[in-house]
Amino acid sequence: MANRLAGKIALISGGASGLGAAQATLYAREGARVFIGDLQEELGAQTVAAIRGEGGQAQFVRLDVTDTASWQAAVARVVSDFGGLTTLVNNAGIFHPGGIEAETEQGWSQMIAVNQTGVFLGMKTAVPELLKSGNAAIVNISSLFGLIGSPDAISYHASKAAVRVMSKGAALEFAKRGIRVNTIFPGQIRTPILADITPEQDAAIKAGIPMGDVGDPMDIAHGSLYLASDEAKYVSGAELWIDGGWYAAC
Ligand SMILES: NC(=O)c1ccc[n+]([C@@H]2O[C@H](COP(=O)([O-])OP(=O)(O)OC[C@H]3O[C@@H](n4cnc5c(N)ncnc54)[C@H](O)[C@@H]3O)[C@@H](O)[C@H]2O)c1
Repeated sequence: MANRLAGKIALISGGASGLGAAQATLYAREGARVFIGDLQEELGAQTVAAIRGEGGQAQFVRLDVTDTASWQAAVARVVSDFGGLTTLVNNAGIFHPGGIEAETEQGWSQMIAVNQTGVFLGMKTAVPELLKSGNAAIVNISSLFGLIGSPDAISYHASKAAVRVMSKGAALEFAKRGIRVNTIFPGQIRTPILADITPEQDAAIKAGIPMGDVGDPMDIAHGSLYLASDEAKYVSGAELWIDGGWYAAC
């Protein structure tokens, strides 16, 4: 165990799986007490058990990021179990392909509800507790698809681009009040979210990655760890691309 997050209390949405589980695992290894908030209770319990198996401190709370009451209950649970909240990671997200012709209004609304409104509700609900800590951090997970276009993911692009600028607004809103807000833009990373991606999309994405391959969840977790730690005490409103050089080629 190292201690780069000693004293931190983190709530990580979507922490049961993929990038969220990697961040929860690394945060706990670095001394944070971690709450995983997710819809997937069984997987969340498994992730918590794995973290505890390494000697880390973790708990699970059922969280639907689209629902204010669910956020309020999750934040209340973190505060009641761990005594406060210093760190919020808005990581939960969904993806489905579809350009303007293929996407439905229902698909659009679902994507915006989880990926965009979920981030707004997370920040809004957590801020009162984060302000109390006096030295807090929010890490929002956007996507390279929040920065660049593709022909087949209209709702995802919209939702992730919104996260980019919401984060900057929040960074300015809280700049003098002890909450730093930063955004990570993953490229393509091996996680279950890509299960529905078409082989054509997969091949096209890999062909555009200068390093020639997709990334691992821990690649994202290490960037998140930095932004959540006091090493980043002068960093707010920043954009961290973790993408195998992809954005440099755009
Ligand atoms: N994997 C990639 O290549 C990639 C690239 C760019 C951005 N991202 C972003 O990273 C984040 C994590 O994705 P991942 O790749 O780990 O996917 P994942 O599917 O493995 O994990 C996403 C998690 O979010 C949870 N979730 C979904 N809807 C939820 C809701 N309403 N309330 C609470 N939890 C909910 C899921 O249950 C799941 O555990 C997402 O925001 C995603 O858009 C991923």
